[in-house]
Amino acid sequence: MEPSDAGAPPDLRVGQHRAGRHGRTDPGRGRRRPAHTGGGAVTGPAAADDAATAGEAAAAGDAPAAGDAATGDAATQHSPLQHISVGGRYDVHIGPGALTCLTGHLSPGRRVMVLHQPGRAALVGEVVDLVASAGGQGLTHEIPDAEAAKEVTVLAGAWAALGRAGFTRDDLVVGVGGGAATDLAGFVAASWLRGVDFINLPTSLLGIVDAAVGGKTGINTAEGKNLVGAFHEPRAVLCDPAWMASMSRPDLVSGLGEVIKCGFIADPTILELIEADPQAVCDPAAPVMTELIARSVRIKAEVVENDLTEAGIREILNYGHTFAHAIEQVEHYSWRHGDAVAVGMVFAAELAVRVGVMDPELLARHRSVLDSVGLPTSYAGADWEQLRAAMARDKKARGATLRFIVVSEAGVTQRLVGPDEALLREAFDAVSASH
Ligand SMILES: NC(=O)c1ccc[n+]([C@@H]2O[C@H](COP(=O)([O-])OP(=O)(O)OC[C@H]3O[C@@H](n4cnc5c(N)ncnc54)[C@H](O)[C@@H]3O)[C@@H](O)[C@H]2O)c1
Ligand SMILES: [Zn+2]
Repeated sequence: MEPSDAGAPPDLRVGQHRAGRHGRTDPGRGRRRPAHTGGGAVTGPAAADDAATAGEAAAAGDAPAAGDAATGDAATQHSPLQHISVGGRYDVHIGPGALTCLTGHLSPGRRVMVLHQPGRAALVGEVVDLVASAGGQGLTHEIPDAEAAKEVTVLAGAWAALGRAGFTRDDLVVGVGGGAATDLAGFVAASWLRGVDFINLPTSLLGIVDAAVGGKTGINTAEGKNLVGAFHEPRAVLCDPAWMASMSRPDLVSGLGEVIKCGFIADPTILELIEADPQAVCDPAAPVMTELIARSVRIKAEVVENDLTEAGIREILNYGHTFAHAIEQVEHYSWRHGDAVAVGMVFAAELAVRVGVMDPELLARHRSVLDSVGLPTSYAGADWEQLRAAMARDKKARGATLRFIVVSEAGVTQRLVGPDEALLREAFDAVSASH
């Protein structure tokens, strides 16, 4: 038995006869589904509440929904600015005018160091103006674009800027940019004087739905990505979708990969919103964008409020990521993360169908929804042996045993441990073939 399975109720485990050939599936933290009738793979009880909300699905029913999330869909759809609490520790403000929520964190004399990507000048100017009108002292420090921001030399440069400014424990770091900028800003804040406040202003879709919320901060080393980091939660996260208007379409679409992931693991309404109008969801100005972001952030918030350090439930956020990380490795990070996650979800779905936990219609839905926004659903690069070796190296793998999150129905996850090698190979063949 895997150590992390220790807390799972024994009556929800898969029958032993399946374990030899197919590996073992345990209920993940999603809403429980009725026993699978096709293959008899899952022996768990019927779902207790088929009307469970996304929040309940994400939180496995053992934690209260986060903040405004508890107020439900009506509030969600009518409020232009949404506030999502992360465990009561900090809020994520999403929607037009979100920047106004910075004011509560400013005060006379407080220094604010804005660490920002190039090209975000208008937003940086607005932040500095707000700081000045609150009587604070706004400072700016530009960092390189994208992954180049996450180098130790950039970290040292930011420390030097803080030192020159006489930055104290009472001051505030603000990260402005995509996930690379907020990862760096968070790590600067975590390490300066052993931890100062920081606020994230993510300007990319992937940044807001994945990187800026959750408290993981970090930089890269020559040996690999994100090898150095700290858990350090922001004081707030602010995101106005209007900031994304300048994003390139491929970057925006890549972010949708993580949004769609949230749909499959916890909130099928996300899938319905995308299916209803795949064009609108590629437009940051469309009202549905605020809705999609808020729904995705709510899931992450509910997961991380209970599992900051990734011990259990946070695992569901890794849906599609085992295969995605392998693609990223063998492609030397030339693939956008959300694109790799899209293919990774199709791989996991192909696997889930073969193990007997997913119906083929849900697999087809993976391909159709991803394809509708222009995300890739197949991979024709490295061969299976290279990808299999890369999966074994993934830091989330435990020893030789591969672990996958699989989806049994939209919004319901299970854990698949040690699937049969032949099925992995079949799933690979299916994603490398064009459909
Ligand atoms: N901390 C976490 O939990 C976590 C989770 C997921 C990803 N990440 C990290 O996030 C990074 C990926 O995030 P990302 O895709 O946002 O990367 P990024 O910051 O490199 O941004 C991608 C590109 O989009 C551009 N961009 C961002 N906002 C823009 C805007 N408003 N207009 C025009 N261009 C804009 C950036 O300049 C960059 O070129 C990686 O470093 C990854 O490790 C962290
Ligand atoms: Zn991801």
